Amino acid sequence: MLVRQLVFGVIVLLTRTAAQDGNSQNNVSKLQDVPEPGLFLRRSLAKATLIGNYLYIDGGEISQNEMTEAGPVFNRGRPSNPVNSTISIDMSVTWSTASVKMRAIPKPPGIPSKSHGHIWTDLNENAFYSWGGFRAYADETGEKTLYKFTADGQGGGNWSVEVANNPEFFQTLRVVDQGAFANTDTTAYVLGGWSSKATEAGVGNQGEPIPGMISFDMKSKEFRAGTTGFSPYGTAAVLGASMQHVPGFAANGGKGFMLVLGGMLDRSTGANEDRVPLNMSNLVLFDAVTMERYEQTATGEIPPTPRKGFCSAGFQNKEGGYEIFISGGQNDNRGGSRYGDAYVLSLPGFVWSKLPDQPAGPRAGHTCVPVGVGKRKVISIGGARAAGTWQGSDPAAQGLMLFDMTTWEWNRDYDALDERPYEAATKIKEWY
Ligand SMILES: *[C@@H]1O[C@H](CO)[C@@H](O)[C@H](O)[C@H]1NC(C)=O
Ligand SMILES: *[C@@H]1O[C@H](CO)[C@@H](O)[C@H](O)[C@H]1NC(C)=O
Ligand SMILES: *[C@@H]1O[C@H](CO)[C@@H](O)[C@H](O)[C@H]1NC(C)=O
Ligand SMILES: *[C@@H]1O[C@H](CO)[C@@H](O)[C@H](O)[C@H]1NC(C)=O
Repeated sequence: MLVRQLVFGVIVLLTRTAAQDGNSQNNVSKLQDVPEPGLFLRRSLAKATLIGNYLYIDGGEISQNEMTEAGPVFNRGRPSNPVNSTISIDMSVTWSTASVKMRAIPKPPGIPSKSHGHIWTDLNENAFYSWGGFRAYADETGEKTLYKFTADGQGGGNWSVEVANNPEFFQTLRVVDQGAFANTDTTAYVLGGWSSKATEAGVGNQGEPIPGMISFDMKSKEFRAGTTGFSPYGTAAVLGASMQHVPGFAANGGKGFMLVLGGMLDRSTGANEDRVPLNMSNLVLFDAVTMERYEQTATGEIPPTPRKGFCSAGFQNKEGGYEIFISGGQNDNRGGSRYGDAYVLSLPGFVWSKLPDQPAGPRAGHTCVPVGVGKRKVISIGGARAAGTWQGSDPAAQGLMLFDMTTWEWNRDYDALDERPYEAATKIKEWY
């Protein structure tokens, strides 16, 4: 108790000093979840989704310069800070990445910011769920709670705690970060991931990989282990992979499936030598309904691996095929160095093509979402260029980049009036 009071006393003192500094210097900007574009440096480890006309960006951390009388200053406190708001961007208007308005929707008390977590989008309820992720700097122990954001259709929305309909089973779940996640219209999945005290209570300082897969039925609000203890990787954990739900398309007999890309397979204790990179030529698919697992060989220009913490986004083309975009990520065999490249995997041929490199340099911890009226663009949000590197501004204005999946061009401008539907690029059409 005494310690607590002392700590509290110190905080009060610090706050006062800062305020006095502010007065004497007359102008010190405060940390923001959406800083002025000129003060923004990096955003990373957030997740994003599109609901109606709005892109929502949640969680992660941000670094920024603070304005003082002497000019912009970096790192008066920590190099990065957790983002305490949910951010929305209006996709019904045209904008450029340098000046796009990002609206910060503050989170109410009790709804924490999480890094490298998982979100599931339920378009039936205009909502997304936030599950897992870690507390930045392990400031607080992670908790076992499912959060839900319900969009209001105008770029705002409300956070609430969602109670599972099977609370006893819910209590047995492990809470992780960097799992692979995806959802169908009704069911959400997280595969593998890493547990630490920043993700859940009762875990030692070391942390551990968590095998298996969990699912959440967004209608009945029921959690399950896979559906019946199923994981496409058996008892091994998958770390930092991407999972895409490929909805039913004609070439696949109308059936949908999940596709797992990249990441590392961790068979035991979490020691680095126990980790095997998953490559992009031998792919694992599973049927989310029957829980059957398939292996599929991919050909073409195979993205180099190991690769984790990259972003992915899926696109249904108007010819009936499906393409998956990936970019960046980190290479654990090279001290976590980041990839600056981008690739597209075309289905049903399972052929990879190399795309032009990301114009704003290597990154990992970014997130990608299909956007635009015709869903032919991908927006890439944030990402950091090396582990723990928060200083130096992202060459991408406000951390944003756009890529046109049909013309294979990177853009800085978003055109809300572009209604052209996504069609496969010429090079992909030529392949078929
Ligand atoms: C403080 O600095 C900001 C950013 O440079 C500027 O917009 C604002 O007008 C300044 N305020 C005062 C009171 O000087
Ligand atoms: C978010 O809240 C935490 C805890 O109060 C604070 O340390 C951090 O600076 C805030 N983040 C930003 C970007 O202001
Ligand atoms: C969100 O919360 C506000 C204030 O509590 C309330 O007025 C509003 O109806 C809520 N909106 C939704 C969509 O739940
Ligand atoms: C890819 O990984 C599989 C095991 O999943 C392995 O059998 C295969 O040899 C690897 N291929 C390459 C090109 O590394």
